[in-house]
Amino acid sequence: MGFLNKLFGKTNQEEETTMEKLNIGIILGSTRQGRVSPQVGEWVKGIADQRGDANYEIIDIADFNLPFLGTTDGTEPGITAWSDKLASMDGFVFIVQEYNHSISGALKNAIDFARDEWANKAAGIVSYGSTGGARAAEHLRGILGELQVADVRTHPTLSMFTDFENFSEFKPQDLHQDNMKMMLDQVNAWSGALKTLRFAFSL
Ligand SMILES: Cc1cc2nc3c(=O)[nH]c(=O)nc-3n(C[C@H](O)[C@H](O)[C@H](O)COP(=O)(O)O)c2cc1C
Repeated sequence: MGFLNKLFGKTNQEEETTMEKLNIGIILGSTRQGRVSPQVGEWVKGIADQRGDANYEIIDIADFNLPFLGTTDGTEPGITAWSDKLASMDGFVFIVQEYNHSISGALKNAIDFARDEWANKAAGIVSYGSTGGARAAEHLRGILGELQVADVRTHPTLSMFTDFENFSEFKPQDLHQDNMKMMLDQVNAWSGALKTLRFAFSL
């Protein structure tokens, strides 16, 4: 069947599938004791949920107890659970913290555990660090390109100096609200478009 037929000759059930609310995963990129990523993730989810335009869910890498890639026989249940969770998502918001001018090892390891589950989906980045986590976010964009994840332009950057008290209590400035809205608008638009593409081409 040609992809146009597939797009426009949909059954009711297929129509419903592509019209369902999108599933957007908010991925916490850090796993260390004392991490601040859960606070940032909850803030993003709070803003996102108010929109009512998608199903937003926090995905905590720490919950999956992923081993270090290649060091085990690969039968840990968390590996399958991680893959299934990613596969059920249409798009992502990465909560990215800067570790030595890049993303955390935990996030890179978790990203490397999947491939097809990421492809032809959209993502936004919310980062933090001394310079807003900008260097880590730029590294992540390169990784996402390889995985065929369409990362949107708008990128809220949070400062450890002005958006956190004592580098530990998250108190975001109001100025981030506009960027958050724009980033989520873009993630939703691209996630919806790419869902149609995955359907049309059985990707
Ligand atoms: C191993 C390590 C390396 C870090 N390197 C940087 C860095 O290069 N640039 C920066 O802005 N912050 C750096 N930081 C500070 C972190 O951005 C900050 O501690 C942040 O809270 C880490 O996120 P998390 O609390 O969610 O783990 C580093 C922190 C750690 C633990």
